[in-house]
Amino acid sequence: MSWPLAVLQNTLMGIKPVARLARGLHSTGLSGDAGLARQVLRFYSRFVPIEGQDILEIGPGQTLEVLEHAMAAGAKSCSAVDIEAYVSPDQAKRKQIAYRIYDGMILPFEAGCFDVVCSYTAFEHLRYPAVTLRECFRILRPGGRLVALIDLCDHSHYGRAEPDPLRVFDCLRYSERLWNLMRWNRSSYVNRLRKSEWLTLFNEVRFLLRNEESQVNEEIGRALPALSYLHKYSHDDAVTAVLTVCLEKPGK
Ligand SMILES: C[S@@+](CC[C@H](N)C(=O)[O-])C[C@H]1O[C@@H](n2cnc3c(N)ncnc32)[C@H](O)[C@@H]1O
Repeated sequence: MSWPLAVLQNTLMGIKPVARLARGLHSTGLSGDAGLARQVLRFYSRFVPIEGQDILEIGPGQTLEVLEHAMAAGAKSCSAVDIEAYVSPDQAKRKQIAYRIYDGMILPFEAGCFDVVCSYTAFEHLRYPAVTLRECFRILRPGGRLVALIDLCDHSHYGRAEPDPLRVFDCLRYSERLWNLMRWNRSSYVNRLRKSEWLTLFNEVRFLLRNEESQVNEEIGRALPALSYLHKYSHDDAVTAVLTVCLEKPGK
């Protein structure tokens, strides 16, 4: 899509009734698939205990099933917070999940009330990543952990029948100002932070990095000499496609 059309679409999505209509057409990743949700819980369990824990998921989209499985696995309580109401309060209640919608700034929870904060492919969508990270730090208990899988790719090609493998970092072609004009109001908005920028933020918020796993896009690595818009990044930042971290709030 050309950038003027993208700017127009983004402007339309700033109109509340249009955005509400569009939300009904979104698919938010796991799309409520119980099997995939079980895999995501298994993935979290590699880094944090589930049984007996107070757990918050940031950005569940349409999928409360990850937390539903966590309740079945003995979690003490499960809460979820999102900026878009993809599920109804009734659906959440039936699954025993405290579901909150907020404005993406101050998390609507008391300080020190969670043992675990987890998030799957939502951190790349944060409009205010430094604010959210500080908020995660605030609401965790000392010794509490944050697990996040962050997809660093452009999301606008997801769902296409034959996505071009060399366009996975297309979002990095644009200036900050133009990118925000093209995407800020859209669910495909990504904040474009690279791996090193995330690691710097975690450190600034005073999280301890307990685990870090990166997945590299080999194809981009091979094509890098021809992709001039990536040359301003370190090699690691230019090729890292997925970042998984487990962070700990010190002080226990
Ligand atoms: C790609 S979807 C992922 C949904 C789900 N985790 C999954 O894997 O299926 C990203 C989700 O993050 C949510 N989101 C974006 N910014 C957020 C914020 N600041 N706080 C909480 N959720 C946010 C979006 O509304 C959306 O539901």
